[in-house]
Amino acid sequence: MTEQDFILKSYNTNKESGSVKWASPSNIALVKYWGKKKHQIPENPSISFTLSDCKTITEITYTKKEAKGFSFDIYFEGEKNEAFKPKIQTFFERIETYMPFLKDYHFKIETSNTFPHSSGIASSASGMSAIALCLMSIENELSDIQNDSEESKDFFNQKSSFLARLGSGSACRSIEGELVVWGKNESIDDSSDLYGVKFEGDVHSNFKKYQDTILLVDKGEKQVSSTVGHQLMYGHPFAKERFEQAHVNLAKLKAILASGDLNEFIKIVESEALTLHAMMMTSMPYFILMKPNTLEIINKIWAFREKTDSKVCFTLDAGANVHVLYPESEKENVLEFIKDELVSYCQNGHYICDQIGQGANQIQF
Ligand code: DP6
Repeated sequence: MTEQDFILKSYNTNKESGSVKWASPSNIALVKYWGKKKHQIPENPSISFTLSDCKTITEITYTKKEAKGFSFDIYFEGEKNEAFKPKIQTFFERIETYMPFLKDYHFKIETSNTFPHSSGIASSASGMSAIALCLMSIENELSDIQNDSEESKDFFNQKSSFLARLGSGSACRSIEGELVVWGKNESIDDSSDLYGVKFEGDVHSNFKKYQDTILLVDKGEKQVSSTVGHQLMYGHPFAKERFEQAHVNLAKLKAILASGDLNEFIKIVESEALTLHAMMMTSMPYFILMKPNTLEIINKIWAFREKTDSKVCFTLDAGANVHVLYPESEKENVLEFIKDELVSYCQNGHYICDQIGQGANQIQF
């Protein structure tokens, strides 16, 4: 697939109006995307667990219009929201070539999250993928395409992921479950820089229903956005080695997912999380997104592993919150550990229990 394959060639605007609705999940990267080229092309491949319960639910109502230009309104949790408009405007500009009908309709975008707004959980992955999926459903309605063949479903998922990527890189990994790879890598067939692909390799039963409890250490606005952080990888002294390392880690993880070796899984996942933050600390200007409680939690997890034979581990995204990952078989013990020893480091004692999920769902009316 190339960019050209995603350009919608013909459609009809006889349809006056319609409504579509999708629920799309968040995802947590195991090998991290950090650094991008033009047009949201990643500098290195990444792989993520799709989450199950942390989702954005978005409904788009489209109505035919005459005037030229983009026209849309956004409602977040029932209230009109102006703050999201510039991001959506940029998104529409980036994807217009692939969806020429965008200027023929007015779009009412109504969106909400299943997780608290100010939780510090990045909603760009679930939010942008939900919009991309809605727009793809509209594209199908305007082209009279039924999504019933395997081929058309594959195209739908690929183009949704392709569009979501142009909204926010990590969003392209939220369309499908349970594991998604984004970025060309030799060890993964069909992997692409343009969109995420479902990981089709063997996955050991140790990883079935893998748990992710998100400890909300800091719910405030981040001092440095991911977009700025990615830019700081240009001319970063360790960039080349880091991008190569991600390729190696992805290939290693592929073998680990098949063998079910949880000790090796922990090594890759925790090293990836710390490397991501090491990149932030060694860029110019440098910055730190972890908080003292992030480190307290990491040390507690290491101490717990030392004294029990638990395979619990952590990963981080671009913030202070900690994702605690563990096999389903350890659910009871780890939750007890979290309540006894980690909750006190969470802001207002807040944490969210989630697990690996299957990807986005269309909601029928
Ligand atoms: C640290 O996808 O949020 O979570 O493409 O600029 O929207 P943009 O960035 P974004 O970056 C996410 C980075 C990360 C790692 C990851 O999810 O792979």
